[in-house]
Amino acid sequence: MVEAVNDYLEQQTLTKPSIPVADMIELATKYGTPFYLIDQPTLISSLRELEDSYRGYSGLVRITYSMKANFNSIVVRTFIKENLLFDITSVGELFFYLKCSGKPENIIYTSVTEEEEELAEVLSAGVDRLVVSSFNGLTNLINASESLGLAPSVMIRVNPEVGVRAEVKASYRQGKFGVTLSGSSLDTASTLLKKIMSSVLDFEGFHFHLGSQIENPICFVNALEKLEAFITRMRREYPDLDVKVLDIGGGTPVFYGSPIPTPGEMGSMICPALNSMIERLGTDTTVIVESGRFLSSPACILVSKIVNTKVHGFQKFIFVDAGYHLLLDAALLRQEYPQEVIPPSDQTDHFKLNLAGRLCDTYDIFPISPISKLQGADPGKFVVFRNVGAYSVVFNMPFHCMTKPPILARTSDSEYVLTRRRQTINELFEEEGGNLMIPASGIG
Ligand SMILES: Cc1ncc(COP(=O)(O)O)c(C=O)c1O
Repeated sequence: MVEAVNDYLEQQTLTKPSIPVADMIELATKYGTPFYLIDQPTLISSLRELEDSYRGYSGLVRITYSMKANFNSIVVRTFIKENLLFDITSVGELFFYLKCSGKPENIIYTSVTEEEEELAEVLSAGVDRLVVSSFNGLTNLINASESLGLAPSVMIRVNPEVGVRAEVKASYRQGKFGVTLSGSSLDTASTLLKKIMSSVLDFEGFHFHLGSQIENPICFVNALEKLEAFITRMRREYPDLDVKVLDIGGGTPVFYGSPIPTPGEMGSMICPALNSMIERLGTDTTVIVESGRFLSSPACILVSKIVNTKVHGFQKFIFVDAGYHLLLDAALLRQEYPQEVIPPSDQTDHFKLNLAGRLCDTYDIFPISPISKLQGADPGKFVVFRNVGAYSVVFNMPFHCMTKPPILARTSDSEYVLTRRRQTINELFEEEGGNLMIPASGIG
């Protein structure tokens, strides 16, 4: 069963998006390499798959796009048009979202630092649903709301401290995010709840985020159990405590080469747990499912050019004009983005293949996915990296004075459009303050 599912995922990964090889080569000739290409129809088909996976929940489900994964305007505008909620974490993301004509009422604002000025700015922009993750953050939100005469809705971000099998874990014991369900410091869910109940804020419910690229959805079931026990305990003090909204965070994985659960498998384990919890609590709860990676990854490829090769004994090094400055998680998380050489070749290589980036850094070697097809990699050909839409563009950096590559998109009308220009070296020089020498007046 697992094998069959993963064979299916392998097929999907190597064919989605199905951009003709001739088009990729033509775009490479016109725009140069490397470049990212985002396929709008694939953004939408990923969304539909995620929506379908949660049909088993008896109440309302709202899919929410986590903008941190990819803030390119075509991605943001596509999901705004689909009327998704947006998980936004900074005033910068808020600016981009509003510029793309997003509505503030569709935002869930979850700050990590929760400063009063930041929260005041967000509230002034019309955001009326926020998540709090600390006692100080809650105090800042109350102060900002009172000074603006507003009464926004608030969720408490809890850390259920459950074991999570995932590439990136976000709810480990005594971790950075959220507040614990028990404990004696001010930063606990019960203290926050009591403070909210006696404040101008409208308590909406709870939020947790367990991790990214989750490999086993049982952690959601365990987190829900712990949260339900907490709510039951709190009802001794607040018998009418309602949970209008329950945000179960992100984490839906994509296929890089190792077995993962499909969104359907995730939903079929999580929905029954949600249904029983909601039935026992007797609440009419809207469930929020956040997703950054699953919604944005499969739609995007990175096309790079093979610029050199060399052979040492049994090792062949294939050098491409990309590097981890374009795919940071290849170095940070050893992410195995599936790669393929175009035009493809059936030639058999007798070497152990290594895919090397252009950076002068030992870590700039791309891990090779078991489903990669790298045979026949010769200079002048191209290497396409798949499933790169999430946590890639947003981490672009100018190591070695590298400029940002262009982002192209294929729209739902099958037209190719440029959604980010290639940065010029002169622009980078200016941005890096190349010609600045402004005295910091009054200091020193
Ligand atoms: C609060 C929160 N929600 C959602 C996400 C998105 O997770 P994913 O991209 O795995 O869906 C993140 C990622 O860091 C997050 O911090």
